[in-house]
Amino acid sequence: MEQLMQENRIFNPPSDFVKNAAVPGMDAYNALCAEAAKDYEGFWARLARENLYWKKPFTKVLDETNPPFYKWFEDGLTNASYNCLDRNLENGNAQKTAIIFEADDGKVTNVTYSDLHARVCQFANALRKMGIKSGDRVIIYMSMSIEGVVAMQACARIGATHSVVFGGFSAKSLQERIVDVGAIAVITADEQMRGGKALPLKVIVDEALALGDCEKVKNVIVYKRTGGNIAMTAGRDSWMHEVVAGEAKTCEPEWVSAEHPLFVLYTSGSTGKPKGVQHSTGGYLLWAILTMKWTFDIKPSDVFWCTADIGWVTGHSYITYGPLAVGCTEIVFEGVPTYPNAGRFWDTIQKHKATIFYTAPTAIRSLIKAASVDESVHPKKYDLSSLRLLGSVGEPINPEAWMWYYENIGSSRCPIADTFWQTETGGHMISPLPGATPMVPGSCTLPLPGIMAAIVDEAGHDVPNGSGGILVVKRPWPSMIRTIWGDNDRFVKAYFPEELGGTLYLAGDGAIRNKDTGYFTITGRIDDVLNVSGHRMGTMEIESCLVANPLVAEAAVVGRPDDMTGEAICAFVVLKGGRPTGDDAKKLAMELRNWVGKEIGPIAKPKDVRFGDNLPKTRSGKIMRRLLRVIAKGEEVTQDTSTLENPAILEQLKQAL
Ligand code: WTA
Repeated sequence: MEQLMQENRIFNPPSDFVKNAAVPGMDAYNALCAEAAKDYEGFWARLARENLYWKKPFTKVLDETNPPFYKWFEDGLTNASYNCLDRNLENGNAQKTAIIFEADDGKVTNVTYSDLHARVCQFANALRKMGIKSGDRVIIYMSMSIEGVVAMQACARIGATHSVVFGGFSAKSLQERIVDVGAIAVITADEQMRGGKALPLKVIVDEALALGDCEKVKNVIVYKRTGGNIAMTAGRDSWMHEVVAGEAKTCEPEWVSAEHPLFVLYTSGSTGKPKGVQHSTGGYLLWAILTMKWTFDIKPSDVFWCTADIGWVTGHSYITYGPLAVGCTEIVFEGVPTYPNAGRFWDTIQKHKATIFYTAPTAIRSLIKAASVDESVHPKKYDLSSLRLLGSVGEPINPEAWMWYYENIGSSRCPIADTFWQTETGGHMISPLPGATPMVPGSCTLPLPGIMAAIVDEAGHDVPNGSGGILVVKRPWPSMIRTIWGDNDRFVKAYFPEELGGTLYLAGDGAIRNKDTGYFTITGRIDDVLNVSGHRMGTMEIESCLVANPLVAEAAVVGRPDDMTGEAICAFVVLKGGRPTGDDAKKLAMELRNWVGKEIGPIAKPKDVRFGDNLPKTRSGKIMRRLLRVIAKGEEVTQDTSTLENPAILEQLKQAL
């Protein structure tokens, strides 16, 4: 942190970039911020009118009568799919390539806006025929594919609220989401291809539905990706290609209120159960469009590539909605960064002449390492001259990784947008604008125009620049979370806590602003949420999973810094049958890792599992996680341990790895 705050390298946007930028220079940025400060609702109203198609225009901008349940543009009628597809047919983009699909094995499929529109309409018609209508919820459990985008857009077209579940989640995680969201249909694929291997999807859906409480699910629609051997249940399961055959290639969109829930996306919080983050249609899409323009400076000639998965919010805003709504050509990538080798990203940029590349620091760090041991996959072996802008998302990017990205991928010529945001925020919150903001490695710099981000202390009072604190947003903004699906109370408690006065949106991250520049640097989560390879994981979620194992008596999970994945999951476990040692400990650690992988998904597997006779506890029985964090890091415990019931346990846990 010290080192980050002393970072004094500054990189100005290249002058030829500034000339043509959507926000050309700091004066233009400041003018937008001033417009928002002067007339907040007027600012958003202007942008909403200019950027979205309204079937019926809104008359009221922001409804603040029932905070924090804010409503934006509520009496306006619109449709997300219409905005993303039909508008492009009207704007002369019908024959333009919407999606370049790069399959795991390198096979390429291009889809024009006209094709995509037709496919979405056909599938939307098929969904309607099954009785799925506006307000119904549909689970999408698919990997990266054109069909995945089609499925999301088709739901949006008929007003069905989609909930995409990342293809790496287990049957149990999938079932919990199906039940919580009350889904009546599941869209999936037979299998998914990753790194040359076929992995199951449909089998997991079958398993999830068999776990119970899923009686509401009447249809399972299956995209045939591999042709692998799967079972189809008569009366419930159908093939995507069969249900669309013969359907009309046009489909009247369902005109919905701007507040209509476009999607629910589950994410981890500090308590056990994942939260269903509910997003709106109008406000959400507006921000996806504006951030494509402001942060990504999107131009008609761009080939945009966001490497995220549609199972995460980044894939929603910057694959399914934002890029299509602005009519650009985007790459949808099925594979993994290391297959067939660690040059895959660079090769794909070269092959499709990508101009904007948006990825996560974890990927960058692992490719730095790969390039350092294998010259043949070093980015200098590839022609990356098509690139003009880079982006980073999901976790803090350390200055070394930033510099490598800047020099080796962007040839010291491409600005980097280090975008701070969250599932809950719908789109970017704090990021340099590439034609305006001077960049400092490791800092996400300044809030986007209209975003009233600030840093406060524990009582909700502003802190001066240079002192760290809690990151908040002071005013509601159009793309913010509307509620936690089915749990308004939890929504209020989690994001608008009483302690901060009840009106500030609590991001859950710590931050600090530079004394001189006012630039923000994110210092990490202030709750029990870990960020592993850019994926959010709740420690409580993993703990409840571990204690659900019949062998486990007690468990505590903490994070520790990891060079590659940002944070690593570290589990301290007490077994019912006593503390194992030697090979037994190794075997049991593996067993528990696999258990977590099976119960939640491979991304939640703890990297370290340490066994003890007990956990460090206060006399009142509270587990002292801060001590476990110190041990997990491999550091000496220097804190006061006098309140500890059983200090000797620290030594034992330290030894146990
Ligand atoms: C972290 C991903 C530092 C942060 C879009 C946040 C970041 C959480 C950055 C949200 C960044 C995301 N710099 N930290 N540029 N971007 N984070 O919901 O802790 O999966 O709260 O959304 O990731 O993760 P989520």
